[in-house]
Amino acid sequence: MNSDNKIVIEAALAARDRSVAPFSNFLVGAAIQTRAGKIFTGCNIESASYGLTVCAERVAIWKAVSEGERDFVHLAIAADTESLTPPCGTCRQIIWEFAKEAEITLVNRQAKLEVVQIRDLLPLAFDARFLREAKGSVS
Ligand code: THU
Repeated sequence: MNSDNKIVIEAALAARDRSVAPFSNFLVGAAIQTRAGKIFTGCNIESASYGLTVCAERVAIWKAVSEGERDFVHLAIAADTESLTPPCGTCRQIIWEFAKEAEITLVNRQAKLEVVQIRDLLPLAFDARFLREAKGSVS
C-alpha cells in the first residue's frame, strides 16, 4: 500500500466515527481522493423516514462533485464487518457514473483490506451512453 492510499483509508475510518446511524447502528465511512490529491469524506446519515438515508459513499462523492471535482483516483469504504462491506447497488451506479476510474479499497477496523474495481462490481452498467443511443422520443 502506498502512503497516499493509507491516507484515504484512514480518512474513511475516521469518517465512520461521524456516522449518524441510530436505526441500523451500522456505521460506514468513505473517503474519495482526486487525482490532484484532495480528499473528501462521507459517512452514512440515516433519516427517521428510512428511505431518505444516504450512504457514506454517496455523501463523499456528492461533496466532492459539488466542490467541482470530477477526476477521482481512489475511494475507500470503511465498515466494521469481518466480510468487508461492499458498496450497495445504488452507490455502485453512482460510482460508475462519477468515479469510474477510482480504485476502491474496502477496509474494516482491523485494517483488513481488499481492492476492487467498479467494472467488476457492476458489469453491464447502464449510463448516459444509452440515453444518447435511443432513437425515438415520446414527444
Ligand atoms: N450503508 C452505507 O453507508 N454504505 C454501504 O455501502 C452499505 C450501506 C449504510 C446505509 C444505512 O445507513 C446502513 O448502512 C445500513 O444499510
